Amino acid sequence: MIRTLPLILLLMAITVNAPATQNERVKLTIDASRPGAKIDRNLFGQFAEHLGHGVYEGIWVGPDSKISNTRGIRNDVVAALKAIRVPNVRWPGGCFADEYHWRKGIGPQRPATLNPNWGGVIEPNTFGTHEFMDFLDQIGAEAFLSVNVGSGTPQEAAEWLEYLTTSQQTSLSKERAANGHPAPYKIAYLGIGNESWDCGGNMTPDYYVSQLKIYSRFVRNFNPAQQGNDQMLKIAVGPGGNEPRFVEWTEAVMKAWQDRKWSWDLQGLSLHNYTVVRWDNKLASVGFGESEYSQILKSTLEMEDLVTKYSAIMDKYDPQKKIALVVDEWGSWYAPLPGSNPGFLVQQNSIRDAILAALNLNIFARHADRVRMANIAQMINVLQAMIMTDKEKMVLTPTYYVYKMYLPFQDATFVPVTFNAGTYTNGNITLPRVDAIAAKDTKGKLWLEITNVDPNQSVEIEATVTGKSASGETLTAPKVDSVNTFAAPNTVVPKPISAKVIDGRLTLKLEPKSVTVVSIE
Ligand code: AHR
Repeated sequence: MIRTLPLILLLMAITVNAPATQNERVKLTIDASRPGAKIDRNLFGQFAEHLGHGVYEGIWVGPDSKISNTRGIRNDVVAALKAIRVPNVRWPGGCFADEYHWRKGIGPQRPATLNPNWGGVIEPNTFGTHEFMDFLDQIGAEAFLSVNVGSGTPQEAAEWLEYLTTSQQTSLSKERAANGHPAPYKIAYLGIGNESWDCGGNMTPDYYVSQLKIYSRFVRNFNPAQQGNDQMLKIAVGPGGNEPRFVEWTEAVMKAWQDRKWSWDLQGLSLHNYTVVRWDNKLASVGFGESEYSQILKSTLEMEDLVTKYSAIMDKYDPQKKIALVVDEWGSWYAPLPGSNPGFLVQQNSIRDAILAALNLNIFARHADRVRMANIAQMINVLQAMIMTDKEKMVLTPTYYVYKMYLPFQDATFVPVTFNAGTYTNGNITLPRVDAIAAKDTKGKLWLEITNVDPNQSVEIEATVTGKSASGETLTAPKVDSVNTFAAPNTVVPKPISAKVIDGRLTLKLEPKSVTVVSIE
């Protein structure tokens, strides 16, 4: 995808005044007197689809595996995910969700079925509802279930929710107890279909809206603990990129919501957008140079346009911003790694992906009044993953470290920061050279994130702050395509960084192609 000139102008606009030249110091003005929205911790959500080795091998190895596990769920992966405080996990898809029949994934007999979307492989159904809820419990995350609208029925989805959430003695809750969980589960988020305009059933907006009303009405959460403030939030299928048909789709869903009757409601609208550049002949995730680095980063900044565009449509129908824009699939999508099953979407993850993640998280933070949830695709072994595994081996990706460094931004309050971004140019691509956000964490401490997009030049930043020193971490790498591998897992890992504040001024030198997070003490 080619970014348009207006987007560049827009991005420069967040950066006031004349652009800084190559070696000029970038001055950040932080305005703590004008706090913005809460950066909801759900922006750091994950997505785990039954796709390739995302679930099987990535999470589930089975109780009899030699790989250290708790009830079949691998302990190394759980420990790594706990360390980034995953707020929620979207499951079981993706396109898979619209062909998933939950009954096949409960009880002692698990039939083998097929996974036609992703390689046509056998789906053993050994990881089902109880295993997913156990996994969430082990990592301390909340459930974001996608129900099957495409090939299922409202009755099937309604029964799944009754099975999961009722505390009364129904035949479904007795079955749940017999399968090992007498207490009702908590289901925090419910996705009503997935990409229903394509893989989820190729529906027209009107047809989907009819389905949405039915599912929203009948798929109830009966958990007594979720009847008050802690209600399950329902998320409708929304747009999937920049095509004109998605404007019509967004208008249709939002208009239906505005005209809603007492009998149904909605709390979120989904947005999907991958960073691809081109769908045919996708760029490689390894062995690339500066040209591909700059192309991908240019493409990823389209997220700003999309969030702005769909927020504006939502504002027409929902000026009070009751409905969250939920970016529940985003991230890089490259060509499959040579030798891998193309249906498994296996790719490497480089410092380029770390920069890409930071740029997107910053876009979400700047739109935190509307964008209140996001799920990177996908958590393990698929697309822009946090973690890669190979049998007993596990490696943490550069993107994982960005999520770790951003922990202080979970539920922090956005603080406006303005700066001269300057420009970085490669060939015919010009990008903002620097990006930054600031926020106050839940204890009132000020945090600053600065991304140096330029892969060749370091950048010096200067900020006027109240405090004595700044400390935190910075993530960079020797080359634009540097990755972590099982053999060399520490090529792209954060390093400590600190500086004194002198006369109320903080100065930091940031390495080329780096992501830096510091707190002001
Ligand atoms: O994340 C991979 C796929 O991308 C998902 O299954 C689908 O929703 C999207 O098209």
